[in-house]
Amino acid sequence: MSTSQAADRGEWRRTHTCGELRGSDVGQAVRLNGWVDKRRDHGGIYFVDVRDRYGLCQVVIDEKQTGEVKLGPEDVVGVWGQVVARGEDNCNTNIETGEIEVLAERIEVLSRSKVPPFEVIDNLDTAIETRLRYRFVDLRRGPLQRNLAHRSAFIHALRCAFMDEGFLEIETPILNRATPEGARDYLVPSRVHPGEFYALPQSPQIFKQILMISGYDRYFQVARCFRDEDLRADRQPEFTQLDMEMSFVLEEDVFEIWERALVRTFRETMAVDLPESFPRMRWIEAMDRFGSDKPDTRFGMELVALNEWALAGEFSVFRDSVEGGGRVMGIVVKGGAEKISRGQMKPLEKKAREAGARGLAWWKPGLSGGGAGPLARWCEGAHGEELLKIMGALEGDLLLFCADSRQVTWRVLGELRLSLARQLDLIPSGRWDFLWVTHFPMFERDEAAGRWTSSHHPFTAPEDWDLGGDPAQLDSRAYDLVLNGWELGSGSVRIHRSDVQQKVFELLGIGPEEQRQKFGFFLDALAHGAPPHAGFAVGLDRLVALTVGLDNIRDVIPFPKTTSAADLMCQAPSSVPEAQLEEVHIQLRPEARSPQEPPSGADS
Ligand code: AMO
Ligand code: AMP
Repeated sequence: MSTSQAADRGEWRRTHTCGELRGSDVGQAVRLNGWVDKRRDHGGIYFVDVRDRYGLCQVVIDEKQTGEVKLGPEDVVGVWGQVVARGEDNCNTNIETGEIEVLAERIEVLSRSKVPPFEVIDNLDTAIETRLRYRFVDLRRGPLQRNLAHRSAFIHALRCAFMDEGFLEIETPILNRATPEGARDYLVPSRVHPGEFYALPQSPQIFKQILMISGYDRYFQVARCFRDEDLRADRQPEFTQLDMEMSFVLEEDVFEIWERALVRTFRETMAVDLPESFPRMRWIEAMDRFGSDKPDTRFGMELVALNEWALAGEFSVFRDSVEGGGRVMGIVVKGGAEKISRGQMKPLEKKAREAGARGLAWWKPGLSGGGAGPLARWCEGAHGEELLKIMGALEGDLLLFCADSRQVTWRVLGELRLSLARQLDLIPSGRWDFLWVTHFPMFERDEAAGRWTSSHHPFTAPEDWDLGGDPAQLDSRAYDLVLNGWELGSGSVRIHRSDVQQKVFELLGIGPEEQRQKFGFFLDALAHGAPPHAGFAVGLDRLVALTVGLDNIRDVIPFPKTTSAADLMCQAPSSVPEAQLEEVHIQLRPEARSPQEPPSGADS
């Protein structure tokens, strides 16, 4: 047998995919193409599963018929044969082609495979580095093929939804001036402009706003974005947004378009019926109730404000905190008295301290007052009864408290709430809890740098166009879409007035000279007839990952990078020849000049 003339003439070309044949095809002469999966030898007769992305088909090889056949795992074959019924006893109900098999008349190896680095099986327990190094084999595995097929269908449905609403799909440049989104830029040196650089887009933000100014009132794009930032399970250095922008609209118009698009996409690709409208919640309410701007609303355990109660009591840590301008907040872990032992309190306290707490007071209320925990002695009698009433708690529950600034109480109890819910398995599955979070603060204080930064980005409109008063108190018109505790997307009503945009830049410490230099063209565009506009961008990798039940976006991205931003398959980034550096007028600093180790990279 050889990879011979038949191959050259294409006679091997398939009549059916490996997932296609059924009982009704018995008797047909077929040709299959695919990869050699499992092989079983039954004394002179071989059973070989041939696999492609549509499924598996069992091929029966009797060498008396076919001549000698030497097949190794992952060889690519062409099979000529006849579809035969397996007979009731031999049916395999686990695969869709399980009623039949193909009796081979001839087999041709179209391409030999080296011994694969791991088996092509669904439940693979191999280091992620090996999987990424051999991604071409990894991508043959069922879960990845299903994820990418789902991703494709999902994006297609979203695209149709936007097209049907009258949006135009418009591409914006990749070689840009920097667009600020809060991360570091990836830079590309220019050959023809010595010493100058393009930045890869962190998002198409400025271009989509300019498209509004140019009259394209409904824009969208499946946009690749690049950000050089610390990577995590839900962050890649390059990722994809479904980015959109609309003119002459308010927040609600953007929400409704997205609700319709997501309802349709979930129905078409997953047969899931989402509610027609998602709840809205102000940022401050999300923080006060859940200690997070991306609350997981699938379970309760909400934060309870206890300042008044603390002031009426004798516990000095709590009183001092409130009197010093801080606050006391608590959460109730239902049935936690038994589920969380005294020994398990230590790691909880450690977690709280890591999140910035100075301590973690707790109470397991007893039947007639008292109970256990450092707070028990301060909760005797009516004061304790009052606390149980405020918190809706009972004997058998565990109550946790944090006294600190509002930022610290939010963070500490928000994190404890999440980790306890995971630990105690309180998060219901099969839920799609979408939530719009609105009215984000306009600015955040960067204490280290002594300046204000934008909570969203500098193009976000303030609630008050006059931008009066304390910047810390200003609300913005930014909003996020949250799903099951993940930030899926962000957007805002934009500043469409050049004077307001300049004032925001100034508040951010970007003076007139820097404004002219970096954003002159944009301020100019705003001064040439800018309609009121608003927009949004959803992280598609995150959305697709959540819809296939993954908490890492890596396996919905065909060629992801490691947490150190390396591509282990192509070995990127890589050093380049001196001549190429010269062309782009770059001389490396000494520490960057030593021969580079090939990128390795632990991944999370
Ligand atoms: P933002 O920066 O919030 O907003 O990004 C929007 C969404 O993109 C996803 N995302 C990421 N996904 C994977 N890896 C990353 N490194 C990463 N960074 C962001 C998130 C996020 O919610 N121009 C604005 C949008 C607008 O105002 O219209 C923007 O880019 O899901
Ligand atoms: P102390 O009086 O400092 O021994 O603290 C008594 C209890 O209160 C201990 O369990 C501490 O962990 C807890 N505690 C101390 N400071 C705080 C705080 N800021 N918030 C919540 N609990 C605290």
